[in-house]
Amino acid sequence: MTAIRSRNAKISFEIHHDELDRTESLDGEDQAMEESRDERGDVQEEEYEDISDEEEVADPVLQEDMLKFQETFKGIRERFRLIGRIGEGTFSTVYKAEDLLYEQYHNEWDLEEKENSQWTSPPLRKRRTGLQHALANIDEYAQQRRRPKYVAIKKIYVTSSPLRILNEIELLSKLQGCDSVCPLITAFRHTDQVVAVLPYFKHTDFRDYFRMMTVPDMQIYFRSLFTALNATHEEGILHRDIKPTNFLYDPAKKRGVLVDFGLAEKEGSDYKPCLCEGGSSRHDERRRRLHNSVAVGMGPSNGYPKNDSRPSRRANRAGTRGFRAPEVLFKCTAQTTKIDIWSAGVMLLTILSRRFPFFNSADDVEAMIEIATIFGMKKMKQCAYLHGTMFESTIPTISEKGFSIEKIILWSTCRNDGGKDGGEIPLTDEEKLAVRFLERCFELDPNKRISAAEALEHDFLRETVYSDDDDEMHMVGA
Ligand SMILES: Nc1ncnc2c1ncn2[C@@H]1O[C@H](COP(=O)(O)OP(=O)(O)OP(=O)(O)O)[C@@H](O)[C@H]1O
Ligand SMILES: [Mg+2]
Repeated sequence: MTAIRSRNAKISFEIHHDELDRTESLDGEDQAMEESRDERGDVQEEEYEDISDEEEVADPVLQEDMLKFQETFKGIRERFRLIGRIGEGTFSTVYKAEDLLYEQYHNEWDLEEKENSQWTSPPLRKRRTGLQHALANIDEYAQQRRRPKYVAIKKIYVTSSPLRILNEIELLSKLQGCDSVCPLITAFRHTDQVVAVLPYFKHTDFRDYFRMMTVPDMQIYFRSLFTALNATHEEGILHRDIKPTNFLYDPAKKRGVLVDFGLAEKEGSDYKPCLCEGGSSRHDERRRRLHNSVAVGMGPSNGYPKNDSRPSRRANRAGTRGFRAPEVLFKCTAQTTKIDIWSAGVMLLTILSRRFPFFNSADDVEAMIEIATIFGMKKMKQCAYLHGTMFESTIPTISEKGFSIEKIILWSTCRNDGGKDGGEIPLTDEEKLAVRFLERCFELDPNKRISAAEALEHDFLRETVYSDDDDEMHMVGA
């Protein structure tokens, strides 16, 4: 087993290789451009019960899987005790495990331990001597130390390209230090198998709490998510796969961490100029393209040429269906961190509308239709035009102006005619504030869309809006 990163967070990032197999391919460039999690949207996701600290897994198939993993990955058994499987993604299987060598390392990542070490002793009991008290304290401390420490072991599928794996590990190590981003503890490689070791983060399945969230709950949730996004974006990193299963949230502790940097990239990694960067100065070029387009030449209702000789547009489309920003769908070649803001907006719309998944398209064309249905033909055409391309549709249900987010929420929560007397139950003031924030996340033009730093200053997320001693505030599931 080869340690890829020291467990002491203070030691800088370094990689120790076993001899690199010369046949190992370092491609991945092309693959990354199209890498997509379409095949397994959140709807089909398997449910994993939270494995309680003591519980052992009874499922014989899983037992066998874990046994095989332990046997084939040399050295893992001495370091970790596998407890169960907590996730199975497109690119990895994630196990919960006990860290057997915890005591031998600096564990800067362990927030729980940090909180415990701030523990103060209870007031002295009358009859206890100083020595008795000291012993009691030591005993209590020792008990805390003996508590098993859990980690999440992410076994990355061997089919992932080495460059992609290295990218995830490098980006994660860059983001150490932000409490809202799940830090990388260490990583190991044995032959072609790489595992990343992360602190285990207890969380609740999104589907179990999102319908019960009040607006104050949403404010806490999104403050945590946008804090993570801000830290990520400040490092010039796009996450590319913001969605509920990648933001692990514990409603009881009101704390969340961003995970899964498998599709993340440095901003500008696959950059090519796009007309959206030039603002109004690129009008002429946009007009020229529009004029020469097939749609203008043939008319949209006549369809498209059978043998289309135009070069196809290529851009990074990695992400999960339903969460892709319009510029990703329009294959913008200068995508920025703003794509994550759009996806976070989809999460907020999901919660406000109590519908998951909110968008449920089978492919990118359907995804465009869904967005156009809400925002209307006019805005969608403007958005396409911004990136030097066109959007045309003859679908009668797509109106020119679309609908307001407020209307969409009333419809999807059956409040437009929900009252017994058939009257509308309007949005509350705090819901309206959430909608105003959401509209800033849903600017079709990424240049106008709110940034994570600006979002944290928005009335919806600004910390002064709520406080811990606010009696009114309560948290779902808490
Ligand atoms: N640190 C952690 N603590 C607890 N559970 C975790 C942790 N990291 C990942 N998981 C669980 O494993 C699941 C999959 O992890 P991750 O998203 O990193 O893998 P993936 O293969 O990229 O998944 P996907 O394709 O679903 O995005 C998560 O949704 C979560 O339920
Ligand atoms: Mg994931």
